[in-house]
Amino acid sequence: MTLIPKGAIGAKFLGWGTALPANVVSNDDLTKTLDTSDEWIRERTGIERRHIGGSTASLSIEAGRKAIEMAGVDPLSIDALVLSTTTPDRTVPATSATVQHGLGLRCGAFDVNAACSGFVYALVVAHGLVAMGMKRILIIGTDTLSRITDWSDRNTAILFADGSGAALLDAVAGPGQLLGWDFDADGSLEDLLYADVGKTLHMDGKEVFRRAVRIMVDSAEKSLKASGLTANEIDLIVPHQANIRIIEAACKRLDIPMSKTAVVLQETGNTSSASIPLALFDAIDKNRVKDGDNILLVGFGAGMTAASAVIKWQAS
Ligand code: ACO
Repeated sequence: MTLIPKGAIGAKFLGWGTALPANVVSNDDLTKTLDTSDEWIRERTGIERRHIGGSTASLSIEAGRKAIEMAGVDPLSIDALVLSTTTPDRTVPATSATVQHGLGLRCGAFDVNAACSGFVYALVVAHGLVAMGMKRILIIGTDTLSRITDWSDRNTAILFADGSGAALLDAVAGPGQLLGWDFDADGSLEDLLYADVGKTLHMDGKEVFRRAVRIMVDSAEKSLKASGLTANEIDLIVPHQANIRIIEAACKRLDIPMSKTAVVLQETGNTSSASIPLALFDAIDKNRVKDGDNILLVGFGAGMTAASAVIKWQAS
């Protein structure tokens, strides 16, 4: 367990934005080409529809622009761009370079790839940059999983989709919003979910499911301990949006009721790096979060990675 050093400079969310492609694909649409049904997909995953289209850069620029506009800051005042993605547009350069140019930024930019845990990794990395003296960081979580999905494979095609979520973080005097965090990875499990370069995703769904619940709970407990909070002090949990049954099982083990859970997967499917920011900003935009609320973000993904963070929300 890593504790945030006392006296470390913290950060707060100044603005945020999301992007979903306009093209909506329903479960019924999928039944035209796959041996599946709306009922099966809803019951086994909770997903009803998903958004498909765009590139990782185009969605990132859309979400990033909204975050910058909401924060009301000059793009030239941003010190770094951290883009979480497991579906870059090109092998070289990093997609963050395209996004940096598209947003008119003049700052360092790099990609982080921790699959579906990536947004939380990016959030913590950004806090590290703030502790090193930077003032303003744009973090974006974007994936276009549809581009690496085999649309004839019903095991994966029903799950994966595209989207983006961005946040503008600003350094503050004092500890800021991040109270505790945790990272994990177990590369010995990489064959459970992988895509070779230029190829589509392969997944052992049952085993990913089983492991996902365990590693989410484990990571969340470590973040709670680091933050000095207990599960019943959490006002909102924002889990990775992969499968409603995974979320239910993890929340049950953490003893956090589903009424405190942010869920958008019925609308978005599994958007990997975008899934946690899409769910978080949906909850905030629906006024489910008030000043001083404790929010637990927890993700898992290929690798198998896990990451969690506890933040204390401050609206102003
Ligand atoms: N439609 C209809 N039937 C199906 C479908 C489908 N799309 N897929 C599988 N089935 C069938 C199976 O063939 C099986 O039939 P059988 O009993 O005759 O053999 C039956 O339904 C049950 O299959 P299971 O694989 O046991 O179904 P399960 O309840 O485990 O659900 C699922 C499968 C949805 C993939 C689930 O295991 C899951 O969500 N796993 C986790 C996946 C995940 O989270 N991946 C993302 C990781 S994050 C990242 O980094 C991207």
